[in-house]
Amino acid sequence: MAFPIHRPRRLRRNENIRRLVRETNLSVDDFIYPLFIEDGENIKIEIPSMPGIHRYSLDRIDEELDEVVELGIPAVLLFGIPSHKDAVGSDTWSEEGIIQKAIRHIKKNYPQLYVITDVCFCEYTEHGHCGVLHEHDVNNDLTLENTKKQVVSHAKAGADMVAPSGMMDGVVKAIREALDEAGFSNIPIMSYSAKYASAYYGPFRDAAESAPAFGDRRTYQMDPANRREALREVALDIEEGADIVMVKPALAYLDIISDIRKNFNLPVAAYNVSGEYSMIKAAGKLGWIDEKKVMMETLTSIKRAGADIIITYHAKEAAKILKENC
Ligand code: PBG
Ligand code: ZN
Repeated sequence: MAFPIHRPRRLRRNENIRRLVRETNLSVDDFIYPLFIEDGENIKIEIPSMPGIHRYSLDRIDEELDEVVELGIPAVLLFGIPSHKDAVGSDTWSEEGIIQKAIRHIKKNYPQLYVITDVCFCEYTEHGHCGVLHEHDVNNDLTLENTKKQVVSHAKAGADMVAPSGMMDGVVKAIREALDEAGFSNIPIMSYSAKYASAYYGPFRDAAESAPAFGDRRTYQMDPANRREALREVALDIEEGADIVMVKPALAYLDIISDIRKNFNLPVAAYNVSGEYSMIKAAGKLGWIDEKKVMMETLTSIKRAGADIIITYHAKEAAKILKENC
């Protein structure tokens, strides 16, 4: 006979008691902020479908970095838009590639910031696919060879961590071996382990000019209908040497985050992707939702599901709110 002895509302009567029993607290410590860096000069272009998010050239990126550091966001995730694309994405392993230049700039001027690089090819290939093409599909093992060159080049430029996002089989093992051989055994790998073939990436592809010129990514990214397969992908990545595993997107995949949290002991990251960001921004602009509240609720839900780390375009805004509330 639970009621009237048990009254859960007793623990909700005011903010003090709610604070004491709160199970999930968001913190700026949870956030990684993605940056789009474009080769060229004097560039600061707002991405139309992602209000508040810009592409910067390196000569203008400091205004963004100053803010990130000032807000106490621990890490950035770099995406590059190169001046030149080719069939294989050779800018990704060039010493003068856009990401290599960006890493050197940031580590020199903001040494306290942790720099993570997205490791893929789609922004750097003319065809927009995430690797080397062979017979109209991405060839897995040829792509691994180029990935090794890419990560060693990022490490040499000073990257703190690499994050492979191409969903090639065996990529974590290939990266671990390449980094160790080159003397970078201390650089961790955050693997996009369970990355789904999602329509939520749409705004990102505008931002990074990385939409595939033909077809889609369903031969390498996961089928959104699959749940058990995510555990298999994560188990393989851990065996191969991943230090952090990621689920992407986040919001439509909270069950996957929760499953991975329950089954493994590594830190779990979730990528709150571009489309998730854009939907909140659009509905906020229309006045249909309270944008800031929905943002905080969404980020909290991702953490509650089991994410230790949230990669999010909301990082600066959320950090500001968390700061005001302390
Ligand atoms: C590239 C990459 C994508 C995202 C991160 N890395 C897009 C894709 O797979 O097409 C998506 C990020 C976002 O939507 O915010 N491999
Ligand atoms: Zn890609």
